Amino acid sequence: MINVDDFEKAARERLDPGAYGYYAGGAGDESTLRANVEAFARWELRPRVLVDVSEVSTVTTVLGTEVALPLLVAPTAFHRLAHPEGELATARAAAAAGTVMCLSTLSSVSPAELAAAAPGAPQWFQLYCSRDRGFTKELVIAVAEAGLQALVVTVDVPVAGRRERDLHTGFALPDDLPVPNLPVALARADFHAALSAIVDATLSWRDLEWLRSISPLPLVVKGVLTAEDALLAAEHGAAGIVVSNHGGRQLDGVPATLDVLPEVVEAVGERVEVLIDGGIRRGTNVLKALALGARAAMAGRAILWGLAVGGEEGVARVLELLHDEIASGLMLLGCPNPEDVSRAHVRPASSSV
Ligand SMILES: Cc1cc2nc3c(=O)[nH]c(=O)nc-3n(C[C@H](O)[C@H](O)[C@H](O)COP(=O)(O)O)c2cc1C
Repeated sequence: MINVDDFEKAARERLDPGAYGYYAGGAGDESTLRANVEAFARWELRPRVLVDVSEVSTVTTVLGTEVALPLLVAPTAFHRLAHPEGELATARAAAAAGTVMCLSTLSSVSPAELAAAAPGAPQWFQLYCSRDRGFTKELVIAVAEAGLQALVVTVDVPVAGRRERDLHTGFALPDDLPVPNLPVALARADFHAALSAIVDATLSWRDLEWLRSISPLPLVVKGVLTAEDALLAAEHGAAGIVVSNHGGRQLDGVPATLDVLPEVVEAVGERVEVLIDGGIRRGTNVLKALALGARAAMAGRAILWGLAVGGEEGVARVLELLHDEIASGLMLLGCPNPEDVSRAHVRPASSSV
């Protein structure tokens, strides 16, 4: 297997159809899911030649933390559907690759268990703010106590998107899947509806201030798609933003993330770090995101395919492939470091002009 698509094909063969559909699927007609991937083809790279790239490095920083490559592990739910070691395998592979793993609220391990799996590794926690604010407060405090380094609040799930593949397959969570970061047990069948009942749909900008008041960690707002909300996130003290449409799983019909990245970057400038996720399958996808102003990208499904195929080793291999594609892409682009990739390194594709 030599690229992420190969891993997806192999994962599809190994996973049961319900779990594969849950991972691969999006909301509604899946138009946003497709758009995320297609958007990368609408930009072309503009390489500069005769630049000394004998010493290329993929190292960069995100929120002040050094990472070995400008690609982080996005929070995705239920890693045990892919492999019995679940999130712990992903955490070990991310640590070995020198990058951040962001743990989902919908995981089978607590923040402390994740930290113990990869001591000293940079790890973040993704929060679904539940209606039980006492529980949320305790969870947020536990995240900081476990030594995780950022709190990523997902703001695009006031209600779960309608994922029709799950309805077609009748997908239900297995009975033996713990969800320790939720205040109540999650129903196994129709768990999207159960999650919607747990998540606090009243969440508003003022609550970000509450989260900041109970947590010493930098706050990252995940799920921003407009300049207006990017500015509000900055005004409410976010250290970072993830331009994300949840991998096309929430509101179908919103734009591809790459297409809104420029307006978000323009709105917030240097005030907050801008990350992006959605459709990352290639190192060159990451380079295009950097050129349009992202500090780094995050990968969701690419990691899950690695996990399904080979557990920790599979995730390590996917991260290695993407690392190598980023490294050779930087060399071919004439950029010794990720920071050297600028707006001048991309242009709209000829076919889309
Ligand atoms: C199976 C699956 C589960 C996900 N679970 C979560 C989650 O629990 N919390 C969250 O903030 N985002 C979740 N996401 C969204 C990802 O964080 C990310 O936005 C998305 O996967 C990026 O797109 P990509 O899969 O094309 O890389 C999930 C995505 C997938 C595919």
